[in-house]
Amino acid sequence: MKTEAQHIVSLAKDLAPELIELRRYFHQHPELSREEHLTTQKIRDILTDLEVEITDCNLETGVCGRISSGEGKIVALRADIDALPLQEKTGLPFASLTEGCMHACGHDSHITWLLGAAMILTQMKEKYAGEIRLIFQPAEERTSGAKDVIDAGVLEDVNMIFGAHNKPDLPAGTVGIAPGYLMASVGGFKITVTGRGGHGAIPHLTQDPMPVAGAILTGLQSIVARNVDPLESAVISVGSITGGTAGNIIPGEVTMTGTVRAYSPEVQALVTRRLHTLASATARAFDCTAECTGPKFRLPPVDNDPEATRIARTSTEKILGSDRVLDAIPVLASEDFSLYQERTPGCFMWIGSDSPDKGWHHPEFTVNEDCLSVGAAVLAAAALEALRELNSGS
Ligand code: NI
Repeated sequence: MKTEAQHIVSLAKDLAPELIELRRYFHQHPELSREEHLTTQKIRDILTDLEVEITDCNLETGVCGRISSGEGKIVALRADIDALPLQEKTGLPFASLTEGCMHACGHDSHITWLLGAAMILTQMKEKYAGEIRLIFQPAEERTSGAKDVIDAGVLEDVNMIFGAHNKPDLPAGTVGIAPGYLMASVGGFKITVTGRGGHGAIPHLTQDPMPVAGAILTGLQSIVARNVDPLESAVISVGSITGGTAGNIIPGEVTMTGTVRAYSPEVQALVTRRLHTLASATARAFDCTAECTGPKFRLPPVDNDPEATRIARTSTEKILGSDRVLDAIPVLASEDFSLYQERTPGCFMWIGSDSPDKGWHHPEFTVNEDCLSVGAAVLAAAALEALRELNSGS
């Protein structure tokens, strides 16, 4: 008699060739955020074949489905489905057929994991009670898809949610899981330094904003180095400086734009306050003015619930063995999975995909396809473990 974990593993193993074929189909047909029509249709077709109930969530792209098996709690599993505006250079036989568009973040494998999990869960219906909600979310790359899914009511009554992203620096067959912050909040800012322009040879009759911008740029480095607690994390990067038209003209204005990444609301507030003070006070010291807008934090951080994380770790260790479940290392990239976690306890995991040199958003990015059956099994197992624990705790 097989244990539940062994059952999941053997189903996932049997599905491996089909999952590889599916991933290659999605890889060959990438679609940008909000344009995932073909992807949506393919997912719908597969769910229909599996007799998964497709729920009408009024999404133009993206699909939500439901696998019900009697009375019980509701657990959601989420995958993102969009691709990036990038020309693929992998040379793979199943490379993108769409010019300038590529699954360079591996969302093709995320779709495949969730379809694989649906295949496993529909075959194991007699083993659990409750409902599993499947969310194939559009437009993650634009950080707007999760909000649409939530606005459509898909998260209503959901008791717990799980999701995962491929992780190129982890070997295929391993999974990274940890409670707490996993991915950061992101916010953009703009600083406009205003002075008075004039002739480059007569600087004393101008108020030159150029050295002021330089002083602000240098000063900004002190915020992370001197104001943020060394045990916390934050990044401030200035990505553009614009000003001036010719070498002998002192411009009247210089504009800088940048990005801030941080986890906790306290660090976000600290960085915001220091950014504004530093910009305006530095400009004043040079007889100029500076106006700072932002950083406007678009997303909260991915913050793994301790209980959901414990459940995910337990179920993943059962199927992979404890030596293949690692403590997840956080990154300062962002993910709109965080919006689901604001509403229901959730855990976001790293699934090793083995592409350490050509990572996310690289034109030669690809995944080790061994991760496909692993991802399917990990998501299915987390859903079943969560249903069992939530049902018994009620
Ligand atoms: Ni991604």
